[in-house]
Amino acid sequence: MRVVLFENRMSGEMRSAVERFGGKVLSAPAMRELPVPHSPGALAFAEALLAGRIDMVIFLTGVGARALLAIIEEAHPREAFLQALSKVVTVARGPKPVAAMREWRITPTHVATEPNTWREVLAAIDAAGPVAGKRIAVQEYGESNEELVQALRDRGAEVTPIAVYTWDLPEDCAPLRSAIETIVAGEVEVVAFTSAQQVRHVLRVAAEMGLEERLRDALKRVFIGSVGPTTTETLRRLALGMDFEPDRPKMGDLVRGLSRHGKYLLRRKRASADAGVDTGRATRVDLVWPADECADCPDPLQNSVFLRACRREPTDYTPIWIMRQAGRYQREYREIRAKVSFLEMCKRPELAAEVTLMAVDRLGVDAAIIFADILLIVEPMGVGLTFNEGEGPAITPPVRDGHDVDALAEVEPAESLSFVAEAIRLTRRALHPAVPLLGFCGAPFTVASYMIEGRGSRDFRQTKTFMYRDPGAWHALLDRLVWAHVRYLDEQIAAGVQAVQLFDSWVGCLSPEDYEEFVLPHTRTLIEAIKPGIPIIYFGTNTATLLKAIKEVGADVIGFDWRVNLGQKWADIGYDVAVQGNLDPVVLFATPSEIRRRAQRILAQAAGRPGHIFNLGHGILPDTPIDHAITLVDAVHEYRPTRDTA
Ligand code: CP3
Repeated sequence: MRVVLFENRMSGEMRSAVERFGGKVLSAPAMRELPVPHSPGALAFAEALLAGRIDMVIFLTGVGARALLAIIEEAHPREAFLQALSKVVTVARGPKPVAAMREWRITPTHVATEPNTWREVLAAIDAAGPVAGKRIAVQEYGESNEELVQALRDRGAEVTPIAVYTWDLPEDCAPLRSAIETIVAGEVEVVAFTSAQQVRHVLRVAAEMGLEERLRDALKRVFIGSVGPTTTETLRRLALGMDFEPDRPKMGDLVRGLSRHGKYLLRRKRASADAGVDTGRATRVDLVWPADECADCPDPLQNSVFLRACRREPTDYTPIWIMRQAGRYQREYREIRAKVSFLEMCKRPELAAEVTLMAVDRLGVDAAIIFADILLIVEPMGVGLTFNEGEGPAITPPVRDGHDVDALAEVEPAESLSFVAEAIRLTRRALHPAVPLLGFCGAPFTVASYMIEGRGSRDFRQTKTFMYRDPGAWHALLDRLVWAHVRYLDEQIAAGVQAVQLFDSWVGCLSPEDYEEFVLPHTRTLIEAIKPGIPIIYFGTNTATLLKAIKEVGADVIGFDWRVNLGQKWADIGYDVAVQGNLDPVVLFATPSEIRRRAQRILAQAAGRPGHIFNLGHGILPDTPIDHAITLVDAVHEYRPTRDTA
């Protein structure tokens, strides 16, 4: 792929990184830093600091911090200035100003965390206490960071910005102009922006060349990489859009991401542009795939590795998806979640579809699962549902006896849960034509346990007490849940899912006898009632002792948690059912080589037998590094069974 790099200072390093991945580089620096000579602001700041009239200094860049000291050194003794600086509160925006300060033997009082935007600077300051009345100096770069300055002023601080350098166009703009012409001519696949200022400069130079509109049009068919959140914000504000931003604002991560995602996502971008979508403003939900994406496969969905594995047909490689693949471990998820509650995300189909698609884009998994929750169904039954930060779900009032069961409302999912069906329709339209979409619901036991306990539980005392004391009410409750879920899953299937999973997450708290008496008949009824032809996955945790009984529910695929040996358990329950699992989610916190080794061990247990879908043994954990999840997906896809591993 032909890649335009707008970076200036690090252009050499970036070029070699892109070339290592086989890209052809067009280097077109779009800016340079110009020091402000004898900056009066810098000198006034030095005097104020020396006179004890400054309480806090914020350093936003390494280059700027050093430039500031250089200016001040011309008028004041270096040691006196650094001495004064060491006595006030100092804040560094990230590793680069920290490194500059280390040269001065000063440890910053506060350091902003990644991705090192002004928001993290502000968060670091806020965490340390109020700033009202404090006199704060902010070392700036290029143009003023108005948002940060304003936010500090809103908190009652007295803020003085200090300009140390400005941004200008490069001395020689010929490479930039030539790159713009090449992009306009349609001869570029990828452009990479490594600062917000580059974006403004590229548009400015294009405008001077009379090519702005044509450049904007051409970029609708080019893969646009952005190094971090500030650059992304600028690209979005200027309606250029952005196709990939790494999770850490590092050039190496940007280049690696462009190489992994570029080809695949560029096909979608170009097809969308051809279909008349304004890709500069589009979200994932608006995008489409080329119609001939799967021209050689008659039914791309039914022939997908995932559905073939559900039917225990041979596949070229083992399919993988990850439970909770759209969730808090993803930066993009957290960005959306910072603005809306979890329940609102579920209830806004365009957001639910967006995060569902995002997980597939980022991980390259073989199936999508619609973003929703197993507990959404309790609201239309007339029970309150809230998700409190750090506490998990809460159900009020809990169901505690037969009267409470009788009082539950009949659920009409076509009406009360129509947002799920709508999210499925939006997702299915934008999802790759060969990637199946999974629907899901809670299994009757696990949903009942939340309704009775009112929350998650360790020993399920209320649930079991209910079950033992009033079996009649228990069976009535499960019966209601079964039929509500049958209608709910039928809605999901009608809206476009290709398979469904039943989450019976907590069923492992039961003895085999109790499982057979109180749970199995209901779960079996549910599965039998669902439209035939749709593969059904049944998943629970702590089910080692229940698996024989679980086989009787009649699911097409049985999910294992990580506590069992997949090879042994598959042999025990019989190869006439497919299996899913079962890497311990905590393994994703180990090193990439350990992740690969342990994934291979599970794959070797499955021994290439048709009917294994790789997954974690339970949902991915919130702090999991996304790179490690990607490592797992790649390891599973690259694995080929050898004859002697069985
Ligand atoms: O797999 C996916 O990506 C699809 C989405 C999905 C969610 N929940 C999103 C979610 C699925 C399939 C579920 C199922 C679910 N929900 C289960 C069964 C699976 C399992 O993990 O055992 C259960 C038990 C629930 C109930 C529930 N919802 C719990 C216990 C929690 C966790 C609360 C917490 O703070 O950790 C939720 C919330 C929830 N569901 C989140 C997500 C992404 C986190 C919400 C947030 O952003 O704060």
